[in-house]
Amino acid sequence: MLVFVPPHPLIKHWVSVLRNEQTPCAVFKNAMAELGRLLIYEASRDWLPTITGEIQTPMAVAKVEFVDPREPVAIIPILRAGLALAEHADSILPSTATYHLGLGRDEETLQPTVYLNKLPEKFPEGARIFVVDPMLATGGTIVKAIDLLKERGVGNNQIKVISAVAAPPALTKLSEKFPGLHVYTGIIDEVVNEKGFIIPGLGDAGDRSYS
Ligand code: PRP
Repeated sequence: MLVFVPPHPLIKHWVSVLRNEQTPCAVFKNAMAELGRLLIYEASRDWLPTITGEIQTPMAVAKVEFVDPREPVAIIPILRAGLALAEHADSILPSTATYHLGLGRDEETLQPTVYLNKLPEKFPEGARIFVVDPMLATGGTIVKAIDLLKERGVGNNQIKVISAVAAPPALTKLSEKFPGLHVYTGIIDEVVNEKGFIIPGLGDAGDRSYS
């Protein structure tokens, strides 16, 4: 498994805004969306199918290359916080299909429960899929989400995970279960506490985005 922390000052900037406990809800949500935009940009490098041709500019004929609109990228935001991180996915990518996945983590057991599943029964052959969840803490949630994709015949190399903060327990689980997966994250924090929160992290991303 490959884990990328793109070394870009804007990524550091938006992670820092997210970390600040003084950041108000609307600004937090916007920072999450901007971080998502940058991470999706990085993750889609060399990954999008393109079509080439010629087009008439006002001046002359030019060779052109477009992202192929016939192969939409699947975006899977994990509710709730993934909605904020995925907010700009369909403006940065020319062709997307969004499939919502609602997963809640039990506060005591830290086990995930699926409360909404809008995944298709089958993805198109060779589909490219972004699974978007800001926090990879114990890893239970992201593993559950990818298990649902595996049940639908998706290969590890078809999936890229987009997250704001990732921690070693989640990254270890992902690499053991899904070799070949790519993870793009704003930052890696080393500690997950006994309540399942990443330390220093940025708190509860869902609550901070929507309350
Ligand atoms: C948080 C977070 C991840 C999950 C990470 O979601 O957004 O989805 O926990 O934890 P894990 O790696 O230990 O499984 P939460 O269940 O709080 O839902 P929310 O987004 O609705 O707040």
